[in-house]
Amino acid sequence: MISKELQKALIEQLNKEYHSAYLYLGMSAYCSKEGFNGSSSWFLIQYQEEIAHGMKLFKYLEDQDVELKLPSIEGVKVEYNSLLDVFKKALAHEQKMSKNLNILSDIAMREKDHATYNLLQWYVTEQVEEEATLKEIIDHIKLVGDNGYGLYTIDKELSTRVFSDPTTK
Ligand code: FEO
Repeated sequence: MISKELQKALIEQLNKEYHSAYLYLGMSAYCSKEGFNGSSSWFLIQYQEEIAHGMKLFKYLEDQDVELKLPSIEGVKVEYNSLLDVFKKALAHEQKMSKNLNILSDIAMREKDHATYNLLQWYVTEQVEEEATLKEIIDHIKLVGDNGYGLYTIDKELSTRVFSDPTTK
C-alpha cells in the first residue's frame, strides 16, 4: 500500500508528465511556425515519449489501487525567442523533472516502499538520457550560432528521430 503522501506526490508527477507532453506540443508548434520542421517533428516525438511516461505511471497507480483524482493540466506557452531558446527551455524543464523525481525517490526510500522506489529509478535513469540528448543538441546549435546553413543541417538531422516506446526498454 502506497502511503497517502506518496500517492499524492505520484499523482502530481503523473500530471507533470502530461504537462511535459503538452509543453513539447507547444514547442513543436513554435518550431513548425519558424520553419524548423525537423525540430518540430523531434518535439512531437518527445511529446509521445512523455505520454508513454505518463501511461507507465498511470498503470502503476492503477495496479496499486490508488484512487485517481486527476487534476487539470496547466497551459503552456508557444512563443520562444529562437531554436536555441526552445531547446534550452526544454533542458531546464527536464532538469526540474529530474529534481522532482529525486524528491519522490527520497520519499519512497524513507517509507521503505521498494516497489515505488524501483519504478522511480526507471524514471531517474530515463532523465539522465533525456538531459544528455538535450545538452548535445544545445551544444550543436551553439556551435553553428546564427549560421543559416548550420541550423538547416541540425534541423534536418533532428528530423530523423523516430519514436520508440521508452517504456519497453
Ligand atoms: Fe517524462 Fe521528460 O520527463
